[in-house]
Amino acid sequence: MNTQTGKKVTVPGLGAMKQGDQSIVMLTAYDASFARRVDAAGVDCVLVGDSLGNVIQGRDSTLPVTVDHMVYHVDAVRRGLERALLIADMPFMSYHDRPTAMQSAARLMSAGAEMVKLEGGSAVVDRVSELVAQGIPVCGHLGLTPQHVHQLGGYRVQGRDDALARVLREDAVALENAGAGLLVLECVPTALAASVAERLRIPVIGIGAGPDVDGQVLVLYDVLGISSGPRPRFVRDFMSGRDSIDAALAAYAEAVRDGSFPDAEHSYA
Ligand code: KIV
Repeated sequence: MNTQTGKKVTVPGLGAMKQGDQSIVMLTAYDASFARRVDAAGVDCVLVGDSLGNVIQGRDSTLPVTVDHMVYHVDAVRRGLERALLIADMPFMSYHDRPTAMQSAARLMSAGAEMVKLEGGSAVVDRVSELVAQGIPVCGHLGLTPQHVHQLGGYRVQGRDDALARVLREDAVALENAGAGLLVLECVPTALAASVAERLRIPVIGIGAGPDVDGQVLVLYDVLGISSGPRPRFVRDFMSGRDSIDAALAAYAEAVRDGSFPDAEHSYA
C-alpha cells in the first residue's frame, strides 16, 4: 500500500503493510471536517475513539461513552473520509456478552465503520471470534486499556514486570488466533511491544509503545496540542512551530513513516 497512489485502505491491505517497509499511520477523529483533513494528510486509519469522552465531552474517563454517542460520531467521520480505513471503538459495556457485542458492532458498522476495536485479551476472545465469523473485522487493544482504569488503578505503563508481560504476550496471541486483524498496544515498554510485533502476523499499532511496532496512533487533539490536563509522555504536539493544522497532520504522518516518531523521549523503557 502506497500513500501516493491514493488507493483505499482495506483490512487485507493493512495486513500486507506489515510485510512492507512503510509504517501504518493512524489518528483519531470525531467529526467530518477533521476527518477530511486527516484523510487528506495521508493517514491510513482513522479511529473514532471512545477518547471522545475525554476530548469532546470533557469527561475524566471513557466510561460514560455510549454506543449512541459512537454511532453519531462514526456517521459524521464516515462522510469526511475517502481513503482511510474507519475503525470505531466499542464503548464500555457494549460487548460484555456475545449478543450485546454483536448488536453494538452491527450499529457501528451500519454507521460506516469498517472495523471495530475492543479492549481486553483472553477474556474477550469469544466475542472477537463471533464478530469475525459474522464478517466484522476486529482490532484488539492491550496494555493500558482505559475502560479498565479503575481496575488498573490509574493511567500508567503496563507490562513492566515479567508476569504481566507474559500475560500480555499470551493475550496478543489469543486475539490473533481469534481472528483479530489489528492490535493496538498502549503504554507498554518498547522491548515488550517489539516482541509482540515480531511474534504476531497481524499489524501492531503502538501508542506509547515505542518505535519497533508496525504503526502508530495518537489522539488528534494531542497532535494538535489542544488537549487539556497533563500531557502523557508519548504525546508530541505537532502543531508547535507550525502555522496550520494541515502542516501539523502532514508532519505527524511523515514522522511516523520516516521513523522519527516516537523517539526514546516519547517511549517507555
Ligand atoms: O479511544 C482512543 O482514542 C483510543 C486510542 C488512544 C488508541 O483507544
